[in-house]
Amino acid sequence: MHGIELSPAMVAQLRAKPGAQSIGVTIGDFATTGPGGTFQLAYLVRNTITNLTTQDEQVETFRNVAAHLEPGGCFVIEVYIPELRRLPPGQTIHPFTVTPAHLGFEEYDVASQIAVSHHYWVVDGQLETRSSPHRYVWPSELDLMARLAGMTLHERWADWKREPFTSDSTSHISVWQKTPRDGS
Ligand SMILES: C[S@@+](CC[C@H](N)C(=O)[O-])C[C@H]1O[C@@H](n2cnc3c(N)ncnc32)[C@H](O)[C@@H]1O
Repeated sequence: MHGIELSPAMVAQLRAKPGAQSIGVTIGDFATTGPGGTFQLAYLVRNTITNLTTQDEQVETFRNVAAHLEPGGCFVIEVYIPELRRLPPGQTIHPFTVTPAHLGFEEYDVASQIAVSHHYWVVDGQLETRSSPHRYVWPSELDLMARLAGMTLHERWADWKREPFTSDSTSHISVWQKTPRDGS
């Protein structure tokens, strides 16, 4: 097993966990960094594909994954479905959490396909804030990125319990397969 992570601080968090010594990690960008060797499975979960804020970087990730998969190997992504249907015309803000201790909202720029996630927390009476840009992406665009990289959709579920993916699903787990050696 091998991971790619941009942040040395996150790698330090991993290293503090039991059994972490058996996992190799390369510090780098998963769109371009090679882990060395080929794998049967690559995965990018918890919406991490949206951390790449350009289509080019997301496409490059699929190419990089395909280059490091064995024939017949699979790429798994977990990512949310963009909630654009919640935006009335002319509105750009969608609140997703409103509690006394946590206010969270997305700020959409539909033209650039970017949503900035804003969080405001009250922690011990102090205000903490964080904002991060994300490039939201639909399943169909991901399928096209997979196709460009020589992979095809194998499975798509709504969640990790393999509930069916429907038009009401708020996220998806998708599995693309690199063409097997026999081409089947
Ligand atoms: C949603 S967090 C997932 C954290 C953790 N791996 C987990 O599953 O709980 C996304 C992680 O991806 C890392 N990351 C974001 N963009 C990256 C990139 N281009 N290359 C490598 N790592 C990246 C972030 O530093 C962060 O640790």
